[in-house]
Amino acid sequence: MTERAAQSALVASLLARFASEFGGSRQEAVFFAPGRVNLVGAHLDYNGGDVLPVTVDLGVYLAIRPRDDDRLRLRSVDQRDGIDARLGELGDARRPEHGWAAYPFGVVRGLAERLPERGFDAVYGGDLPMASGMSSSAAIEVVTAYALDRLHGLGLENRELALICHGAESRYVGVQCGIMDQFASALGRAGHALWLHCADASFEYVEIHAGFQVLVLDTKKTRTLAGGAFNQRVAECGEALAILRMHARSLPTLAAYNEADLAHAAPWLAGVHLKRARHVVSEMQRVARGVAALRAGDSRALGAALSSSNRSTAVDYEVSCAELDAITTAACAQPGVFGARLTGAGFGGCAIALIEPGSAERVIPPVRDDFVRRFGVEPGFRVLTAGGGPRRVG
Ligand code: GLA
Repeated sequence: MTERAAQSALVASLLARFASEFGGSRQEAVFFAPGRVNLVGAHLDYNGGDVLPVTVDLGVYLAIRPRDDDRLRLRSVDQRDGIDARLGELGDARRPEHGWAAYPFGVVRGLAERLPERGFDAVYGGDLPMASGMSSSAAIEVVTAYALDRLHGLGLENRELALICHGAESRYVGVQCGIMDQFASALGRAGHALWLHCADASFEYVEIHAGFQVLVLDTKKTRTLAGGAFNQRVAECGEALAILRMHARSLPTLAAYNEADLAHAAPWLAGVHLKRARHVVSEMQRVARGVAALRAGDSRALGAALSSSNRSTAVDYEVSCAELDAITTAACAQPGVFGARLTGAGFGGCAIALIEPGSAERVIPPVRDDFVRRFGVEPGFRVLTAGGGPRRVG
């Protein structure tokens, strides 16, 4: 099946579920928001640094129809049971019984002052691996915000929608993430990477040249972001920042420091604080090198930035795992691979490899064999296309 045919089949399955749950009519609309991979800039967004995500052609689809009352009825094509609530019941933070619906509910809360007191019926589905480092949660948030904006004529810009979605994830769901995923999903441009300066949420687009392809390597090891490890990294970086402010100089974010500052604060900056700060400071340089390499069409230099980022993420940031280490090492051992790194938060999920165009069929078999031999699990592979941002598709 071609990609377009697969997407049409997905939209058809959403509409079929919608009709069986809620009754079909001509008033339901279908929207799409993409996921992303991040080329380089691991865990820099919440440290006020720069990141370089690429929006992909996979994402989350939503069939939605506004209601005349205050009910919210949410379904997923992947799950039999749905989640129902009333607008007034949502509160200011996620409720455990709402499960995945906490993401759309957080968006509804974020838009509450702008929205009429009307709920909606909705079916979600998608082709993005869930909870695996490709921003499935941001895509759920952005597709919801974008759909509500369009259906109720709110006139918000995609940048504002991204900020509302970020608020949904950080305040309502409770993951202390940065702005990268929501911005990538809301502002993606086909054929481009988004060079996002998280210190002030400004950004520019960098064209992707034809000298490489991005191959996703899915370890199939799932992880949940709301779990303590992510928020623990955020807290450790906050502590490192406090140490640097006291013993080097006072700067607004961890990403604003340099190696000389770390050396200056050396007697006080040790253990995990030194490791986290060293990753952040060196990763900022890798993003600059990555952007320069992308602009120069230098796939080798870009790949080297990825692999070096991967080492720092594993050794100093400690968010890798045996599966991610093995799959990136196996990929980098293949001819035609410029570099590889985990993408997203880490702890499992997907990695990406930068490969010579057309080399996927050669690269995949040995990487798969190595992974199956080590872990007894069949990994997933997919060559990505840099797709655009959210849109109406039906
Ligand atoms: C997750 C978070 C992002 C970012 C990455 C790590 O995807 O949602 O905000 O911190 O991890 O780079």
